[in-house]
Amino acid sequence: MEARTGAALLLAGLLALATIASSNTEGDILYMQRRAWKDPNNVVQSWDPTLFNPCTWLHVTCNSDNSVTRVDLADAGISGTLIPELGGLKNLQYLELFTNNISGSIPTTLGNLTSLVTLDLYDNLLTGTIPASLANIRMLRFLYESCCSNFQLKRC
Ligand SMILES: *[C@@H]1O[C@H](CO)[C@@H](O)[C@H](O)[C@H]1NC(C)=O
Ligand SMILES: *[C@@H]1O[C@H](CO)[C@@H](O)[C@H](O)[C@H]1NC(C)=O
Repeated sequence: MEARTGAALLLAGLLALATIASSNTEGDILYMQRRAWKDPNNVVQSWDPTLFNPCTWLHVTCNSDNSVTRVDLADAGISGTLIPELGGLKNLQYLELFTNNISGSIPTTLGNLTSLVTLDLYDNLLTGTIPASLANIRMLRFLYESCCSNFQLKRC
């Protein structure tokens, strides 16, 4: 019983956190991600939070409503982790981060990205398993590399 109450409280806390996270603007989220990365080649230097929205930033593409649809940072020399707040980029269709030195695990919150078409994370230093939440994304074409089956962690 005790443990259940604890788990329920924990869940409530996590839901509250998720609500806070979802109130970030997309620019806030990407800037938070920028700060979590090491960027020796200055590829995300243009990610300037003082601009009204992130649509003018390099490697970021938006739709006509100024909502982020693509982040293209393949082979950019980036290291660091993926932040869970990325799951708040609600119109994101393409997340291209292959061939970097990104480490840590894949945030389960990416399962919230229901518009995602391609999630390219191959050729990084990611560990752990593919979050089950990603199986909810019906449109997801491939996760790591086209020569792999859909849910594979390592480069083939
Ligand atoms: C990863 O880091 C190593 C060591 O710093 C570096 O030599 C290598 O080029 C990096 N790889 C990528 C894809 O950025
Ligand atoms: C995002 O995903 C997490 C984990 O899958 C979930 O708990 C959370 O409710 C979701 N948040 C939003 C804002 O949809």
